Amino acid sequence: NALYFAGLSGKTPDLPVDFATLEARAAKAMPDSVRDYVMGGCGDEATQDANASAFAHWGMVPRMLVDCATRDLSIDLLGMKLPSPIFMAPIGVTGICTEDGHGDIAAARASAETGVPFIGSTLMNDPMEAVFAACGDTPALYQLYTPKNEDLAASLVSRAEKAGAKALVVTLDTWVTGWRPRDLNSGNFPQLRGHVLANYTSDPVFRDLLGKDPAEDVQAAVMLWVSLFGKVLTWDDLPWLRGLTSLPILLKGICHPDDARRAVDAGIDGIYCSNHGGRQANGGIAAIDMLPDVVKAAGDTPVLFDSGIRSGTDVVKALAMGAAAVGIGRPYCYGLALGGAAGAAHVLKSILAEADLLMAVNGMPTLDAVREAGVTRI
Ligand code: FNR
Repeated sequence: NALYFAGLSGKTPDLPVDFATLEARAAKAMPDSVRDYVMGGCGDEATQDANASAFAHWGMVPRMLVDCATRDLSIDLLGMKLPSPIFMAPIGVTGICTEDGHGDIAAARASAETGVPFIGSTLMNDPMEAVFAACGDTPALYQLYTPKNEDLAASLVSRAEKAGAKALVVTLDTWVTGWRPRDLNSGNFPQLRGHVLANYTSDPVFRDLLGKDPAEDVQAAVMLWVSLFGKVLTWDDLPWLRGLTSLPILLKGICHPDDARRAVDAGIDGIYCSNHGGRQANGGIAAIDMLPDVVKAAGDTPVLFDSGIRSGTDVVKALAMGAAAVGIGRPYCYGLALGGAAGAAHVLKSILAEADLLMAVNGMPTLDAVREAGVTRI
């Protein structure tokens, strides 16, 4: 209503409330290299496109005469009490989505303002200690790209735990980078240009391995990073990962129900169903189409989901299909690019407002009601 009333006096919102307009505006605002990196995906981007378009073949059926005057979107997730069922997915170049290079701090501020948790990537552009402090009272999570050097992995995880992270998200699908034509054609890979490595260059183990001040020789730091990035994890590594921290551990990138089952049997605390927004493997099935089987296989273990979420409607559908919480990825980067912390907060609030309104008009006052209603394959 606030937006409609403002419209009566000719005032429209500073930022769009829908994804298509937001993306188009952000594409113009971002430097070419950042735009291509954020918007781009693997191969001809068929999987990336399918992630978003596949939501159209799942539909909800509204219920009437249900008291929906108030809605409850809060969740309990791995010991965290959260006001809403969404979170900010880990995005390595979040830092350089704002002009000042402190996009992670801006995202953290948006998290503090909205209560939407931020999953800080290993590739944050500011030290994780500063980023997590900026999350205020909203719980933060830490995403690990497991380095080949085990001492470095242990150091990063222990820093995250000390800095207040509430869970560890281990990304499984990115020990090597996928085939991304937009970046390949422009020869652009931010990490090789010395971007987004702040949490390596601020790490005592990394500095020891480098043997000098990274500021004196950025190129040497970059080459060391290249040589250390991407331990090839297997099921045999799970006990080692478990031993690194007492935080709950989630595995990101699980899309096959057998993998979900095996992870649960191995004592993993949460599954994170995602295909990395179609950036790693092309030729895949839309992530949302894999969610129901993963949820079934995971049993009582919570399943987080991302890949292709563009609106509040997508969020509600993913919840109806069994996700415990839903990750927003590219949309918040576009908010950051257009309006910093306020822009990211605007995107999150718009998505939540749409989800809330949809639950209201669909006669689903709680997330239990949403799950019970489920979705129909169109
Ligand atoms: C990512 N993603 C990602 N995932 C991760 O675990 N660590 C990371 O550092 C990154 N970095 C990253 C950079 C960029 C530019 C994008 C777009 C994505 C994947 C991310 O967490 C999430 O899975 C996808 O963004 C979901 O797809 P959509 O909904 O954004 O298309």
